[in-house]
Amino acid sequence: MKRLIEHGLLRAVRLLQPEDAHELTIRALERGAYVAHAGADDPRLRVARCGLDFPNPVGVAAGFDKDARAYRAVLAMGAGFAEIGTVTPKPQAGNPKPRIFRLTEDCAVINRLGFNNQGHAAALARLQGQRPGIVGVNIGANKDAADRAADYASGVETFAPVASYMMVNISSPNTPGLRNLQAPAELDQLLARVLEARERTVARGVPKRPILVKLAPDLADEDLGDIVAVLQARQVDGIAISNTTLSRTGVADGLASEAGGLSGRPLFKRATRMLARVHLATEGRIPLIGIGGIDSPERAIEKIAAGASLIQVYTALIYEGFSLIERIKRGLSGELDRRGLSSLDAITGTRAEAWATERV
Ligand SMILES: Cc1cc2nc3c(=O)[nH]c(=O)nc-3n(C[C@H](O)[C@H](O)[C@H](O)COP(=O)(O)O)c2cc1C
Repeated sequence: MKRLIEHGLLRAVRLLQPEDAHELTIRALERGAYVAHAGADDPRLRVARCGLDFPNPVGVAAGFDKDARAYRAVLAMGAGFAEIGTVTPKPQAGNPKPRIFRLTEDCAVINRLGFNNQGHAAALARLQGQRPGIVGVNIGANKDAADRAADYASGVETFAPVASYMMVNISSPNTPGLRNLQAPAELDQLLARVLEARERTVARGVPKRPILVKLAPDLADEDLGDIVAVLQARQVDGIAISNTTLSRTGVADGLASEAGGLSGRPLFKRATRMLARVHLATEGRIPLIGIGGIDSPERAIEKIAAGASLIQVYTALIYEGFSLIERIKRGLSGELDRRGLSSLDAITGTRAEAWATERV
């Protein structure tokens, strides 16, 4: 019954322009209008990574709550962690509208938002006070920044006091040139600045917060090794794989030609293959967050088997609603029952070899 109501609501909300629908959803969540309050988590779903104790591995990805308005609701609805952002130092408007497109036929979305957000100060104000759970802050650079690394360093210094972790987002396709920061030499320089910024926060008495890096799924196989080597040498605390793709493989909807990053079902294979490759390259030593096209418990399990310790969802929430989170958690518990396991750790990476050679 609850699901029927949720699906009816979702259908109604989908009649609106995607960005209006999103704003309406965030406002409802801000006011505490949740579809369901989650019960206690199955203790077998706990994940200890990056010095944090996640009550379950299912998070909501960056971009859903760019300005830290709804993270309390996200956690109340059962997510194991919320990631706010991307936030940039100065507020910025982003690209002209329309800039979000629903590819309903493919259960996908194309967005070219371009880091529209209210800036550091607004998000920081909303993150003050008691933290209701694990809340990561996804940091980026303003479009017109003369020194992009300085914007990331500023993100670290600003949010370390309030964030559970910081995610360095160098993989959005909608800020021209941003993805060039993934090139090994640039990445190394950027991480040096970001880690120095963290040292400064530690010197001020702030606990040492984990720093993770979010990658694009469009990196060439031959470049991945060097990039991973830099991430390992700089000892990042985790890697998120992946952001949206510029590829349109497997997309049928007429809106496929819209410019921007594609997310949702058609991204699943590409992102999971790369996740598996990074898992193998790092020999499972760095915690990985698997993102991209998770829309069912089965796909969540596949992500974990490909190498993820934690997962995040976004686009499927638009099509399935927030009850997807509870469904995934139930599916994960069921999988543990079937296999007679007491933790998801035993599943992480078990199918990485097979996924790494998947054709996309
Ligand atoms: C409308 C929209 C906005 C997004 N904004 C951001 C963002 O600001 N920062 C970021 O790192 N990722 C952003 N993403 C990417 C998601 O966090 C995620 O990596 C991607 O959508 C793949 O997951 P999914 O297939 O479950 O949606 C955005 C995605 C969508 C659909």
